Amino acid sequence: MAYLRSPPLFVLKCVGVFFILLFLAANVALWHDTQYWNVPSVHHPAGAPTHNHPIRKLMLDARKRHEETLLKRSTDLNTAARRYRERRGRHPPPGFDRWFQAAMETDAIHVEDYFDRIYKDLAPYWALEPEVLKRRASSWHFVVRVRGGTATMKGDVGDRVLWLELWNTLVEEFAEHLPDVDMPINYMDESRILVPFNNITTLVDKEKKERKMVDVKEVTTEFKGLKEIDETSSETYEPEWHGPDEQYWDVAVKTCGPNTPAHGVKQVADLSQPSEFPQNYRPSYAYKGFIQNWTAAIDPCLQPHLRQLHGSLIEPVSIRSTEELIPLFGGSKLPMNNEILIPGAMYLTDREFYSGGESHGPTWVRKKTQLVWRGMGSGGRTKPHSWHHFQRHRLIDMLNSTSVSRAEAEGRAMTFELPSHEIYPDYRIKDGQLSEWLKTFADAGFGLLCPYDECDWLGTYFKVVKSIPMKKQYQYKFLPDVDGNSFSARFRGFLRSTSVPLKASIYTEWHDDRLVPWLHFIPLDNTLQDLFPALDFFADGDGPGDMAARFIAESGKDWAEATLRREDMRLVCDENRHNLGFVDDIK
Ligand SMILES: *[C@@H]1O[C@H](CO)[C@@H](O)[C@H](O)[C@H]1NC(C)=O
Ligand SMILES: *[C@@H]1O[C@H](CO)[C@@H](O)[C@H](O)[C@H]1NC(C)=O
Ligand SMILES: *[C@@H]1O[C@H](CO)[C@@H](O)[C@H](O)[C@H]1NC(C)=O
Repeated sequence: MAYLRSPPLFVLKCVGVFFILLFLAANVALWHDTQYWNVPSVHHPAGAPTHNHPIRKLMLDARKRHEETLLKRSTDLNTAARRYRERRGRHPPPGFDRWFQAAMETDAIHVEDYFDRIYKDLAPYWALEPEVLKRRASSWHFVVRVRGGTATMKGDVGDRVLWLELWNTLVEEFAEHLPDVDMPINYMDESRILVPFNNITTLVDKEKKERKMVDVKEVTTEFKGLKEIDETSSETYEPEWHGPDEQYWDVAVKTCGPNTPAHGVKQVADLSQPSEFPQNYRPSYAYKGFIQNWTAAIDPCLQPHLRQLHGSLIEPVSIRSTEELIPLFGGSKLPMNNEILIPGAMYLTDREFYSGGESHGPTWVRKKTQLVWRGMGSGGRTKPHSWHHFQRHRLIDMLNSTSVSRAEAEGRAMTFELPSHEIYPDYRIKDGQLSEWLKTFADAGFGLLCPYDECDWLGTYFKVVKSIPMKKQYQYKFLPDVDGNSFSARFRGFLRSTSVPLKASIYTEWHDDRLVPWLHFIPLDNTLQDLFPALDFFADGDGPGDMAARFIAESGKDWAEATLRREDMRLVCDENRHNLGFVDDIK
């Protein structure tokens, strides 16, 4: 028999199979054998039972939700088209068959729900006159332009060209399937479009009213094209811009509806005071102090306190926002913004700076049970009176044992408060022990204090530390991730790393509908009040928390490799938004 002649190979295969079985068994045990969760580990003495820890419930719920969503997976065109009609109330766009075929050829996991983001982003644009839309799109400063199946860049935006090229290349990969289209691209870090609540509601309602399933006989697959636009040269459409002389929050808050807590709330007048945290904070989006609903947890309209707990809402590096609807494409945005999301350009580069390259770091058991963070002091313009309100600065301060030790003595720090024992009763690290623990557990610091302004004065509070390349960071089990000037751009790299990302953010991204918190990553509140209690649960050496963290790390990696690939990013961008249809399946 063949394998007798090549025993090493056979042995290797057996070993491989064995490990897969072992891994499966471990996962099955983790989820189905509550014994693991009942073992009182040395770090969780009686009184802190792991088996009814709120995180356990959140993890089980997450897994259930994920499985339910996956039941809606489509593997053939007819099912996909039917699900499209059910969910969108329209026929799929022309070319849907080719698009779906491409998805199947690249083994994409197709669930219609994963595209909710796009339809939500596009909804108000349906309500604009096509003429207005086309004109605003084609005349923008920077446009990825598709004509006759070829993509080209139009416009000049200086040193941002690298990002734009990355987007152009992505579009180029499937341009042959696209109708003529102009994709105006936001070339700034910050998101730009803030249509006030009343205006956006009018547009969204109009779209809802006009949405209909066109009679099959009337459906066409012919696009009108953009010939007319191309023949008339037009000046760049410049809406009215809000600039740096205005408070960003005061412009942004106009997008918050009358039923949201932030409605009409102004920016705080004096930012020189310590950051103010909501007291006895038990928001409806959290379960016993831990995030349950990520969509709500990233929404500043639901959390007016974030206006003074996040740099983007205090003083962004650049402010150029408009209340008018321009169909701008961008890599991330606040839930308040109206850009159309496409995968962030940094996710399209192979540069190891963002991704860590193809290396995923060592296996879980060989990683250090420690946390690491490196990055810039970005997130906005830190000023002497306001720096302590910034999210990155809060994170670094909370992971600094000197600062925490002082907070333990004095009750709080400029940047943070210690978590409340009333909200987190099972929290094992009592006051006075946290700073000692952080000394050996956390290694976090800025590689550059201020990327934009001169700010030596920040040296009183933070030390510039030696940078650690991304792939070396993957030797640590815990990787916190907070926003920079907008999204941090490392999330995908972290997800693919087999370390476990802990994420706090107020930004939405293209992949939000396909990632499940507590299954693929650990969600954190933007106040970071849950940071220590979450680490307390997961960083228990080799106890049940560690198994849970490993489970999230590994399922996050598998899932990212299955659904956050370049092929998937391509499918997401390829959205023909015309009221034309594909009906071959029901003709
Ligand atoms: C999560 O929060 C969003 C925003 O508030 C809300 O629309 C949604 O219904 C919530 N989801 C669940 C499952 O409660
Ligand atoms: C928004 O709506 C108000 C009336 O509610 C109107 O005066 C204003 O012009 C609208 N703004 C834009 C940008 O359309
Ligand atoms: C930690 O905090 C102390 C006291 O504020 C500060 O001097 C030190 O530079 C901080 N360390 C880092 C890595 O930022």
